[in-house]
Amino acid sequence: MTESTNPFLDERRRDALYGDASRLTQRTAALHSAKFEGEPVASVIAGFGQVGPGHLLDVGCGRGGTTAHLARRWWPRRVTALDASPALLAEARRRVCDNVPDGEARVGFVAADFHDIPLPDDDCDVVVAAFCLYHSPAPETVLAEFRRCLRPGGRAILVTKSADSYATLDELAAASGLAPDARSRSSLYDSFHSGNAESVVSEELRVQAVRHDRHRFQFADADHLAAYLATNPRYSHHAPESLAERFTFVLNGHGVTTESTVTYVVASAT
Ligand SMILES: C[S@@+](CC[C@H](N)C(=O)[O-])C[C@H]1O[C@@H](n2cnc3c(N)ncnc32)[C@H](O)[C@@H]1O
Repeated sequence: MTESTNPFLDERRRDALYGDASRLTQRTAALHSAKFEGEPVASVIAGFGQVGPGHLLDVGCGRGGTTAHLARRWWPRRVTALDASPALLAEARRRVCDNVPDGEARVGFVAADFHDIPLPDDDCDVVVAAFCLYHSPAPETVLAEFRRCLRPGGRAILVTKSADSYATLDELAAASGLAPDARSRSSLYDSFHSGNAESVVSEELRVQAVRHDRHRFQFADADHLAAYLATNPRYSHHAPESLAERFTFVLNGHGVTTESTVTYVVASAT
């Protein structure tokens, strides 16, 4: 599990990806400002509804945006926000405490690996895991942990992206000479993506619903695109200015549109 050509699966790079909140903040901001189609993910998750007022576990909570949204919308009795990165958990705590009434008392923050969740059996009513299972080379082992933590009849909501997400940007990276092999490389989302999510989840849980949403993005110019690509682990060794220089040439005064499918799998523990 330590050696991999997929930087999302390379444990040695986890610190570079999530050791502090800056890369994720920049990535989210660049994508958010480019987005022109696609319902906000936290709202879609909230719309699937809660299973009772009990215990919500948000796995791979990152900066805590979804945690805060669900803590307000569902108002569960207890929330556990779990992530491997202490720096992101600190940021999540700050955002939750600023945005959720009674957040300090109702939401707990746990630094742990999702392959080994420090909660008792049958402890949770709902487990949410958004955009994090593709960091595991064996997501089915994480799903087995979710099944163990869920009470019988409890619900899991898993969210991921399509393997061909942002393919237009790979084409540009190839055309610019930045990554001539970009079109043929395996996807960052290889281990858990829109195409395999339902079958992987069904190995451990009973799938109830699957939803695919198209999200579309327009990067206005080379600087905007470079601000996003500089947060991709494949290109992060390039300064944003040198990325922008390359893309100014290939974009030739135009912007670029790209897309990703966001897939939601709703499943229950039997
Ligand atoms: C792309 S972020 C997603 C954050 C959030 N769920 C969201 O939707 O914005 C992925 C998160 O998964 C976490 N993560 C990656 N590998 C993990 C592991 N083995 N155990 C727990 N968390 C992990 C990272 O620290 C990061 O916060």
